[in-house]
Amino acid sequence: MSAATNRIAVLHGVNFDVLERRDPELYGGLSLAELEYKIGGFAGETGLEPIFFQSNSEAEFCGYLHRLAETADGAIINAGAWTHYSRAIGDAFGVEPVPAVEVHLSDVESREDWRKVSVFDGLVEAKISGKGVDGYREALEHLANRLGV
Ligand code: DQA
Repeated sequence: MSAATNRIAVLHGVNFDVLERRDPELYGGLSLAELEYKIGGFAGETGLEPIFFQSNSEAEFCGYLHRLAETADGAIINAGAWTHYSRAIGDAFGVEPVPAVEVHLSDVESREDWRKVSVFDGLVEAKISGKGVDGYREALEHLANRLGV
């Protein structure tokens, strides 16, 4: 029997635990549990198995990334504000990289200049921003094609 190739780590970084309390114009007003429920539905449609992780601790997030290839075949990463400045998280992703897509609920390209920078540049296969929850569906479709699921 061949090893599974459909496990997708869906990683949310800092402040996603309070997503429902953040600006609904930007982030849609969903809680993280509601967002994960929707992502779970999209994953089921594409034959992928999501594994959810969120942390407000940069150390914990790096620790998860250090073991990423042991637990997942692909990843969707929305690291929140860390995306724009945490070289530590970019480097941690480089330790055990898997095919990955960077997703942002809001359109980071049309917001403040500092949000246009990403520590995942050159490390992820695609970056999807400004499509809300649908961005995750697109990312899952990309990974399903990439992994041949
Ligand atoms: C975000 C965009 C980031 O700039 C911001 O810091 C977030 C959320 C998004 O999903 O739109 O926390 O990653």
